[in-house]
Amino acid sequence: MTFVKKSLAITLAVATCALSAYAFAEGHKQSPEESAVAYRQAAFTMIRHHFGAMGAMVKGDKPFDAAEFSKNAEAVAALSKFPANGFIAGSYSVKTDTIKTEAKPKIEQNADDFKKKMDTFQVEATALVDAAKAGNMDTIKPQFGKVGESCKACHKEYKED
Ligand code: HEC
Repeated sequence: MTFVKKSLAITLAVATCALSAYAFAEGHKQSPEESAVAYRQAAFTMIRHHFGAMGAMVKGDKPFDAAEFSKNAEAVAALSKFPANGFIAGSYSVKTDTIKTEAKPKIEQNADDFKKKMDTFQVEATALVDAAKAGNMDTIKPQFGKVGESCKACHKEYKED
């Protein structure tokens, strides 16, 4: 074998190994429905992180820091666009050892209302970014409340307790 042929053979052997490792991983990967549940739960976990940071300031558990508040408001507004991607057909009955949805199956039959509630959340979260720019709690507080209401309105209908 020439050096080039030898290298080629080695490269091919490595590639074949990599491919079968990939195939193995493929065989054990999450189904699209499981992946969608993990995705939306991850998005909501991030939303809660930033929403909670603002909540602590609104409640007075943490001193108000206008820049910090704005950063969190922007994060929630940006993240509010993501959960909708994870609500796909067939994902409402996912229950495995590691992934278990709390979304109610009736989301599918009430898709328009669910979308309306998601839109309201996005609109209110974006309005909070503007309210935060004012830099004072009097302006922020009512708008923060509206965002919180939008979470609750949806959870009440479409999320298991
Ligand atoms: C339009 C509906 C809707 C809106 C708006 C909404 N949620 Fe949810 N949320 C859900 C549903 C449905 C689930 C359950 C997802 C699942 O388990 O598959 C959920 C799950 C969650 C979870 C649990 C995630 C996990 O790891 O299981 C948190 C935390 C959460 N939401 C926080 C929030 C916060 C905070 C807001 C508002 C700032 C919000 N949500 C707005 C529908 C909504």
